[in-house]
Amino acid sequence: MLVNFNEMLLNAKKEKYAVPHFNINNLEWTKYILEECQNLNIPVILGVSEGAAKYMGGFNTITGMVKGLLKDLNITIPVCIHIDHGSSFEVCKKAIDAGFTSVMIDASRYELKENIKITKEVVDYAHERGVSVEAEVGHIGGTEDNHTSQETNATLEDCLTLYNSTKIDSIAPALGSVHGFYKGEPNLDFATMKIINDNLPIPLVLHGGTGIPNEKIEKAIENGISKININTDLQVVWSNTVRNKIKNDDKVYDPRKIIGSGEEAIKSRIKEIVTLFKTK
Ligand code: 13P
Repeated sequence: MLVNFNEMLLNAKKEKYAVPHFNINNLEWTKYILEECQNLNIPVILGVSEGAAKYMGGFNTITGMVKGLLKDLNITIPVCIHIDHGSSFEVCKKAIDAGFTSVMIDASRYELKENIKITKEVVDYAHERGVSVEAEVGHIGGTEDNHTSQETNATLEDCLTLYNSTKIDSIAPALGSVHGFYKGEPNLDFATMKIINDNLPIPLVLHGGTGIPNEKIEKAIENGISKININTDLQVVWSNTVRNKIKNDDKVYDPRKIIGSGEEAIKSRIKEIVTLFKTK
C-alpha cells in the first residue's frame, strides 16, 4: 500500500520507535527492502536521492517500478516513496507529479528566511495532493552523492519558526549526525533533540544513520527520533558480499548471480537495523 509518511511517523512518535528510511539504488535493492519489510510486517520509507533518481532513469521510472513490485510481490505493508534532499521546488514538484507520496525539501543551505520561503512553496503544492513534507534545519554535513558539506546545528527557535511558518509534516534538525562515515565517535546533541521533540507536534528525523553506535540510536529514539535514514550501511554490506563473490568465483558472469549475491546480506542487515529501531 503506497502512502505518505504521516500515519507511520505519528504512530512512531507516540509509541517511541523509529520507522526506517532506506535509500534505494536499483530494482534489486528495492525488491529486497520490500520483501524483508513485508516479511517482518513493518512500514518502510524508500528514500530516493536526486542522484539515485537520475541513475535509475527518473522519477516516473521509480514510481512505476515500486508500484509494479507492490503488485507482483503482494506487498501489503505501508510503503512511502520519498525524495531525499530535494534541492528545489521544481525537483519536488517533478517527484510529486510522478507519484511520489512524500518529499524532503532541503533548503538548509540558505538562510532561514529563504529556507522557509522555498519549504512553504513545496508544502502548499504537496499538501493539496496528499503528499507529506520533511524539511531540514541547521545543516547536516558529510558526503553524499559525491558532494561534501559542512554541518551547522539546529536550534529550537529555528525549528519552531520553520514549523509555524510552513506546517511541514516532519523535521530533520541537524544535531551532530553526518552522512556517510564518521571520523571518530558521533557527537549527537540529545538534550536539544529532546527539547525540540517536546516542543513540536511533528516527528523528528535523524539523517546519517550509518555508523552511529547502537546505544546512541536507542538514546535518539528515546529522545524523540521517529524516522532514521540509512544509506551507506546497506551499500557497504552489499558491496562487501558482492566483492567476495567476484573474488572467489572467477567463472561467474551472470549479473543476476553477481548483483543477487548481496541479497541475503542486505536482508539480514535490515532485520538487525529494524530490531534496534523497535519498528512496529
Ligand atoms: P547514511 O549514508 O550515513 O546512512 O545517511 C543516509 C541519509 O541520511 C540519507 O538522507
